[in-house]
Amino acid sequence: MRYVVLISGAGSNLLKILQAAKLGLIEADVSAVISNKASAKGLQHAQAFGIAQHVLEQSAFASREMHDLAIAEVIDSYKPDYIILAGYMRILSTEFIQHFDNRIINIHPSLLPLYKGLNTHQRAIDDKQAHHGCSIHMVTPELDSGQILAQAQVAIDADDTAESLADKVHVLEHQLYPLILRYLSTAELKLTPNVTFKNELLDPQGLQYTQQTLLEMSRNEGFN
Ligand code: GRF
Repeated sequence: MRYVVLISGAGSNLLKILQAAKLGLIEADVSAVISNKASAKGLQHAQAFGIAQHVLEQSAFASREMHDLAIAEVIDSYKPDYIILAGYMRILSTEFIQHFDNRIINIHPSLLPLYKGLNTHQRAIDDKQAHHGCSIHMVTPELDSGQILAQAQVAIDADDTAESLADKVHVLEHQLYPLILRYLSTAELKLTPNVTFKNELLDPQGLQYTQQTLLEMSRNEGFN
């Protein structure tokens, strides 16, 4: 499978994907990494793995549409099977999303449909939720609303802060993204014409993991 990964920041999810691919644990050819921030630390991971990097800052473009069009042209030049959003912190235009119809995947730090948007960890704590987690989903024009492919959850402890909870969720993300990309590459997970897992239509909430079951899966696959 050929991927282009979009980032804006630390790129810890990108790093886990690159490591799993290098170890041969997932069949993933990351052709390029694109960032909308020149300062994104994740670009250093791309550099370390010898992967093409492109920085397209929004300030260089007159509109969101023109910025997205330029990014789409770069992506198209690599002919990827999928576009992976890994901490890409900018809303994509409808034209961009439609251009890559059903081929954009995102990871979001909440148990969708709860807590779309930002500050998810603090909002979950404020609401006294017992659990929080992350979701991998397909990207559609409506923010954080596409078909959920998988979710992993972790308990919120009484002394959790937004920072400690973010750390716990990051651990889940680092296990879940490689696992889902593995299922894509083996065609156990298919996104078109319908989203199916092992030839069964996927439930609207996607594959469900607890912290423990995800850890076990991740260990079995060698991701941990
Ligand atoms: C992750 O929490 C992801 O869910 C969100 O942005 C964060 C990216 O982290 N979309 P990193 O850049 O991969 O470290």
